[in-house]
Amino acid sequence: MKYKSQKVAYWFFALCMLLFALQLVYGFVMGFARIGMDGLHEVVPFNTARAVHTNLLVLWLLTGFMGAAYYIIPEESKRELISVKLAYVQLISLALVGVAALVGFHFNIWEGRKFLEIPRELDYLVVVNVLLFLGLILGTLYKAKQRTTTSLVLTMGLVFAALLYLPGMIWFDSQVTDSFFRWWVVHLWVEGVWELIMGGILSFLLIKLTGVDREVIEKWLYVIVGLTFLSGILGTGHHYYYIGVNKIWLIVGGIFSALEPLAFLAMALFAVYMYRKGEKSHPNKIALFWTIGASIVSFVGAGLLGFAHTLPQTNLYTHGTLVTAMHGHYAFWGAYAMIVLAIISYALPNLTGRKHYDNKNGHLAFWLANIGMLGMTVAFGVAGVIQVYMERRLKMEFMEVQNETKVHFVVLILCATIFTIGIGLYIYEFIKYGRPNDEALVKED
Ligand code: HEM
Ligand code: HEM
Ligand SMILES: [Fe+2]
Repeated sequence: MKYKSQKVAYWFFALCMLLFALQLVYGFVMGFARIGMDGLHEVVPFNTARAVHTNLLVLWLLTGFMGAAYYIIPEESKRELISVKLAYVQLISLALVGVAALVGFHFNIWEGRKFLEIPRELDYLVVVNVLLFLGLILGTLYKAKQRTTTSLVLTMGLVFAALLYLPGMIWFDSQVTDSFFRWWVVHLWVEGVWELIMGGILSFLLIKLTGVDREVIEKWLYVIVGLTFLSGILGTGHHYYYIGVNKIWLIVGGIFSALEPLAFLAMALFAVYMYRKGEKSHPNKIALFWTIGASIVSFVGAGLLGFAHTLPQTNLYTHGTLVTAMHGHYAFWGAYAMIVLAIISYALPNLTGRKHYDNKNGHLAFWLANIGMLGMTVAFGVAGVIQVYMERRLKMEFMEVQNETKVHFVVLILCATIFTIGIGLYIYEFIKYGRPNDEALVKED
């Protein structure tokens, strides 16, 4: 680490690990409920578990992005954060708001918008928290000794992500309008501005890990930003096909969303090409695996599996089924979970000064988590295709179909166990690295 204030990042990453672990617990609750083992039903019914599972996901990813920003921005700006104290205040208040929201979910205090279930009162606190975060990042950038494309793209992603939280807070009486604007948050996040955050982190990591010139790497970043906006904004239309809005969206959504995989393809090519071109071989192989892995798996999960159900002709049948869950898992995993795990793997040795670079557990964590998640994706996919066929072609009754897919959830649980062992190892290594310390300041490569 080059700047003392980067240490803040460590505590964001630590919170991130904790929330991630909790997310998996709720995944298992649902998995078991799906095969009829629903003993917790009275305490955590399926719908509560689902809301907690997905909101924890969003919360730990955002915590990870914030940690990444607190690590990357000082280094790219060549100066300390403007206030370390306020950064800790932001961390603690983020944790408190998050916990309050999640506890509330267990008492049915939530709003019925999938992924945006946090009740309105807490939304305001989220806004204050995010403003504090952005204030610290923008303030640091403002006083920066150097402003790089990497730091600007990352910050642009974070600022837009914050702005796009707002449409989800407006009240609409009409279900159609409500749904229309919900996608401004959910879609424009994951298929728009979060991609900029991912691109920024990816670019930072590639500069550090491959030794390729910044100029070359950042030129690609412009291409990625361009492709993302070109396809992602109007690509929102793939959620408007049959929700009660103008039919023009069938064509607009179909065409533009079909172009979205290009941005992910560009990121994958970008990472692999830079890796090949790189002359410097950084000893932190585990960070390199997660980095290249994120770029490739995101192309498969978001690009290919997204494309699989994005055309109106297909989506008519697959909408809202386990096919969506298949894509949701692999896309979130590849694009956002893996890039957060990549930046943590890179930052940890630098923050703690302990260079356990090529440890076995780290490699094992990478492979077990990836094999497990691939298996889970296949299980969801098979269940999804069967569901679509039985429910929407054979017109079988909904619950009867759910029963028929049980066996695939046994497979899901087995694969999720492999996945969880991998993540367990990752967290174990995280803890073993120890705390950040000032001695690490001089040990930077
Ligand atoms: C990393 C990027 C992505 C992530 C994290 C992601 C995640 C998700 C999630 C969680 C859903 C369910 C949303 C909900 O019902 O509230 C969803 C839906 C969908 N995604 Fe993605 N996605 C990504 C990229 C893409 C791309 C690039 C495409 C198209 C090529 C795509 C196509 C779709 C479609 C068509 C749906 C609607 C499914 C339905 O009708 O039920 N996604 N995505
Ligand atoms: C122990 C591991 C996990 C298990 C057993 C698990 C299981 C599940 C189940 C059963 C659902 C509900 C599907 C339905 O509606 O029937 C679900 C939803 C979801 N999970 Fe997981 N999950 C796990 C880990 C993860 C991870 C690591 C991620 C992200 C990287 C993730 C992202 C999601 C998303 C985005 C949804 C909502 C999908 C949709 O909208 O269709 N899960 N999960
Ligand atoms: Fe979308």
